[in-house]
Amino acid sequence: MARSTLTALANEKTLQTSFIRDEKERPKVAYNKFSDEISVISLQGIDDINGSRRSEICEEIVNACEDWGVFQVIDHGVDAELISQMTKLAKEFFELPPDEKLRFDMSGGKKGGFIVSSHLQGEVVQDWRELLTYFTYPIRARDYSRWPDKPQGWIAVTEKYSEKLMDLACKLLEVLSEAMGLEKEALTKACVDMDQKVIINFYPKCPEPDLTLGLKRHTDPGTITLLLQDQVGGLQATKDNGKTWITVQPVEGAFVVNLGDHGHYLSNGRFKNADHQAVVNSNSSRLSIATFQNPAPDAKVYPLKIREGEKAIMDEPITFAEMYRRNMSKNLDLTRLKKQAK
Ligand code: SIN
Ligand code: FE2
Repeated sequence: MARSTLTALANEKTLQTSFIRDEKERPKVAYNKFSDEISVISLQGIDDINGSRRSEICEEIVNACEDWGVFQVIDHGVDAELISQMTKLAKEFFELPPDEKLRFDMSGGKKGGFIVSSHLQGEVVQDWRELLTYFTYPIRARDYSRWPDKPQGWIAVTEKYSEKLMDLACKLLEVLSEAMGLEKEALTKACVDMDQKVIINFYPKCPEPDLTLGLKRHTDPGTITLLLQDQVGGLQATKDNGKTWITVQPVEGAFVVNLGDHGHYLSNGRFKNADHQAVVNSNSSRLSIATFQNPAPDAKVYPLKIREGEKAIMDEPITFAEMYRRNMSKNLDLTRLKKQAK
């Protein structure tokens, strides 16, 4: 599969064995059985520092972070037209012939480009997902040679989109900092020079979706993630270690906000980092655009606030790069161990 895409396999009757997951890992809830347990929060009024709506918004966000670590935002100030341009270009990219997409093939360690998900980390069971990824912040990290040159208009739209999402993320981090009793810049400062990485996920129709996953269970490593998803459905979250899963209701124009491991550690575990996964289906393909707001690799990871009566959830400060390495190897080891035990 190193030099092919999933498109050809999507038309087969059965799933190749390399995508088949252990029974325990397979989807437990349908991709379109939507739950309303994840709060949908309007950000209208968030900029009015002394307004009563701002404190309500803060309370809603904090409750959602303490409960799930996942919520959705609407009225977030990112222009609907920009969102629709970004989505349209992303869809068009994945509709390109395999050879066009593979011009940006990132297997072999290139930083950014196109890949069939499973080749990214050398995983044993393959995810049913193609992706396109690139770094957008800091600006010096932009390697335009790894950004697609088709469809036309990609660079301008993506730059604008990234900038607006950076602003939105900073606003959300202000609220979370204040909720921790800290100055409003505390979380962004803890990121040192905030990184931003975009991953556009394309999940083709799948012949046997009950046997596989589009993206296996994980937590996001960074501070927060802003996810734009289409109306198909497939994002699932759990807060009881996998006993129950819910499918997040797609809301037109909303961003799903996921608190990552970094945000979880900095809040001393007060804000959850939900395990989540993406499931696929046999009726339609699905597109999601994830914007990851991460600290700089050498930023220190340690709780910013330890409340009275609490103990620090970490023994000692580590760098974000080290935290990332440990979490990734834990994930990979788990996959390998499960496979070997069979
Ligand atoms: C992600 O977890 O990064 C993406 C999930 C999705 O596609 O819904
Ligand atoms: Fe994720």
